[in-house]
Amino acid sequence: MTTKTLESGCIHAKRLRTEYLENPLGIDVHKPSLSWQIASEKRSVLQGAYEVQAARSLTDLDAGKLLWDSGRVASDNTTSVRYEGPDCLSAERIHWRVKVWGQNDQPSDWSEPAWWEMGLFDEKEWTADWIEVGWDEDPKAFNPCPFFRRSFKLDKTVRSARLYITAHGLYEAWLNGQRVGDQAFTPGYTPYDKMLQYQVYDVTRMLQKGENALGAILGDGWYRGKVYVHNDRNVYGTRLGLLALLRIETDNGQVMIASGPEWKATTGPILKSDMKDGEVYDARLEMPGWCQAALDDRAWKPVRVVAHEKSHLVASMGVAVRRKETFHPRVIKTPKGETVLDFGQNLAGVVHFKVSGTKGTTVCLRHGEALDKNGNFTQENLFIFKPRGKPFFQEVHYTLKGEGDEEYEPHFTVHGFRYVLVEGYPGEPKPEDFYSVAIYSDMLPTGTFECSDPLINQLHQNTMWSMKSNFLDLPTDCPQRERAGWTGDAQIFAPSASFLMDTRAFFRKWLTELRHEQLPDGRLGNFVPNPYRLRKLMRPELNASSSGWGDVAVMMPWALYQAYGDKTLLDTQYESMKAWVENVRTRARKMNWSKYFNPRTWFSRAYRARQQFIWDTGYHWGEWLEPGNGTSLKIALDMATRIIFGTEYVATAYFSNSARLVAKTAEVLKKQDDARKYHALADQVKAAYQAQMIGENGRIKPDRQASYVRVLAFSLAPDELEPAILEHLVRLIQNAGNHIGTGFLSTTYLCHVLAKNGRLDMAYELLNQKTIPSWLYAVTQGATTIWETWEGVKEDGTPWMSLNHYSPGAVVDFLHRNVAGIAPAEPGYKRIAIHPMPGGGLTRAKASYESVHGLIVSDWRIEGEQMHLHVTIPANTTAEITLPGAAVVSVTEKGIPPGNADGVLNCVQAGTDTVVDVGSGCYFFEYAV
Ligand code: BGC
Repeated sequence: MTTKTLESGCIHAKRLRTEYLENPLGIDVHKPSLSWQIASEKRSVLQGAYEVQAARSLTDLDAGKLLWDSGRVASDNTTSVRYEGPDCLSAERIHWRVKVWGQNDQPSDWSEPAWWEMGLFDEKEWTADWIEVGWDEDPKAFNPCPFFRRSFKLDKTVRSARLYITAHGLYEAWLNGQRVGDQAFTPGYTPYDKMLQYQVYDVTRMLQKGENALGAILGDGWYRGKVYVHNDRNVYGTRLGLLALLRIETDNGQVMIASGPEWKATTGPILKSDMKDGEVYDARLEMPGWCQAALDDRAWKPVRVVAHEKSHLVASMGVAVRRKETFHPRVIKTPKGETVLDFGQNLAGVVHFKVSGTKGTTVCLRHGEALDKNGNFTQENLFIFKPRGKPFFQEVHYTLKGEGDEEYEPHFTVHGFRYVLVEGYPGEPKPEDFYSVAIYSDMLPTGTFECSDPLINQLHQNTMWSMKSNFLDLPTDCPQRERAGWTGDAQIFAPSASFLMDTRAFFRKWLTELRHEQLPDGRLGNFVPNPYRLRKLMRPELNASSSGWGDVAVMMPWALYQAYGDKTLLDTQYESMKAWVENVRTRARKMNWSKYFNPRTWFSRAYRARQQFIWDTGYHWGEWLEPGNGTSLKIALDMATRIIFGTEYVATAYFSNSARLVAKTAEVLKKQDDARKYHALADQVKAAYQAQMIGENGRIKPDRQASYVRVLAFSLAPDELEPAILEHLVRLIQNAGNHIGTGFLSTTYLCHVLAKNGRLDMAYELLNQKTIPSWLYAVTQGATTIWETWEGVKEDGTPWMSLNHYSPGAVVDFLHRNVAGIAPAEPGYKRIAIHPMPGGGLTRAKASYESVHGLIVSDWRIEGEQMHLHVTIPANTTAEITLPGAAVVSVTEKGIPPGNADGVLNCVQAGTDTVVDVGSGCYFFEYAV
């Protein structure tokens, strides 16, 4: 798309998106949602009206032969305008454009056009058969990856062609010897029995008049490969399958090439491919030209046509997974004499390498995150229970064909690693012959942060890398040990993630799966997708419905609404949100066994009444991994205590919070009865919580940092007790020598509640802390991602548990919102709060955020006695800018008093700060501090 140069005063629409995506190929939303941004160089620009036009072709669009014309609509909406034209047909491409008006009634030019293309709406249009290999396989063993192919002749010129394709397992599609598309791990991970995505590719240019060949390689993937912590296999089925439909428009009508009985199958060089174990590849078995028409495929075997379901096929709705950054290694020799490659960055991906040597030589790569305390290669931190013998885990075995330079990259596996142990490599490995490739969902990076402290910058970068490592089609806890869609981790990290990258399409897909995984009674497993549902292993006592984890059903839609302002998502999730809270309500009514021994149960009616709102049954992960849980035994003891006694102090807090968020959602969706009902419920739970958990002096049981943080973060205390609660929190932090004492759940709120309640100094103390437990400890140890536990690499150098868990990195939210000072004052940043909070010895900080309305920047610098703040506010929004410690008389904006500056709507002194209300534009403030 070309960008226009703007005349000052002009506005126009840019960045047109359909269903959050740029020109999506293959969607199945009948009335898609359209969005754009307003570009303008002027200050204080708002959209007064818009007009959208849609047509079947660009020529029609230009000629005014329209499918839909919204007409001029007086509205400032740019983020979710529903296409209201006639229903689109399957496979149809619609082109659209927008014209916008500012407040002065001057229309813009038409925007550059954008398009979307429909997928196949009806299963009847899938005139293709599911095919599988024609031979039997041993489901207990790893079977080689099957190759499928079929050749066909085209005697007419191709006008356009689309490949619609999906698989049981993973697929790589090939056409005439070339790989189709650049997506990895297709068709993605979904609860396969309930929904299976297909992808659409434009293959017009890959076809030729005459002979052609279409093929596919399948891998076990999540479908029948090892998944999650138990390494279960064959969860969704024991046999891989392919469903493909190539629709070709020629000069002489339509030609369909579909998977079916005429296809052939064989196996090739990929002898084993498992997401977790890795890949075994024998290059001697390669089949050059296997997907060329000229291949003599007489030795290939017939396929089996199988009548599998097609009704659950859905167009791909997430974000394509792609190969991204690459890193060359440093080659090291360990004390044991091992050859190890250090790629310098922990990530999720694979290693691409070159090798030459004798036929039959096997090179083995083993992938790990760390070296042990002696500097030798290890994978030990990646197992919960020490494996017996030498496990097959994150390995690649490549057997050479011995024909000069060979190059290899695995197909259907991914590893979490920074270090690679190389064995059997002919000659000395050279750094230039290896590179690691990060693989993740290709979301638009939207957030940046940078300040005067390089360690804090590294912390931010480490969080970004843990996000990249764990956003491979589903949000996982870690990219090595479990790779599970743990709900709690996603709940904790969603707000930070949605600042760092555009997560809308990614999380919308995941929340769709969540709705599928939620049981009719509202219960939710620990994971989405949940492989254990099919095995009927979702017992509420252990692996379903933990507070803080299951609450993702409510907290994530709300977090996304704050970030993107899209009510449609809230609407879609609303029943699921309610179902979760209703499930909790039912479970809270039951009483924990230990209360039967409590005399108050028998003698106090008030006590009994409030027990209905105390959630004290079922298993909960609790605060999880507070500092000090540094051994497996301690973790096991902590779990046992929670199993026996429950965790009412955590669970009840989440109950109240989720009920409150459902009430607020009901308000947004104008469901007033529900709003009243859930506010009332939240109030009752809060009252029960206060009566049972908060002492008169503001002391909360258990007397740990997390308890106080949670109460402040969820506003659970009576207002008058908040100062005392804050004091208790500060006391605990100081007693810990200014160290963090929180675990998974409340770490994300720790600095926020301190800053919000007037103890910014303590927040900075924690942020700057460099000894265990602290965020910067890992950084000083050379971490390049966020560790699962505060202990991480222990002081003696022993790596402990996963070194790539994003959840403790949610502290970046404090960097964005408080240190640099960018936050939404209204959902979707329609109104923006800029409130930098300098401190902790920082002399500058800058964050930028590409919001749904455009770029927001807050960039401050203190030089001598002078504070400089540069702010960018996108068109069609307004902002409240707080200048900390500024006397209004000392403030200038580009050299003049702010009250006189263009775009400034108001400027007042508020306590020790100055608060400036502005419209869109770039502003430069200066004042004495
Ligand atoms: C996972 C976590 C998860 C937790 C539940 C761990 O094994 O890696 O990230 O949330 O279990 O407490």
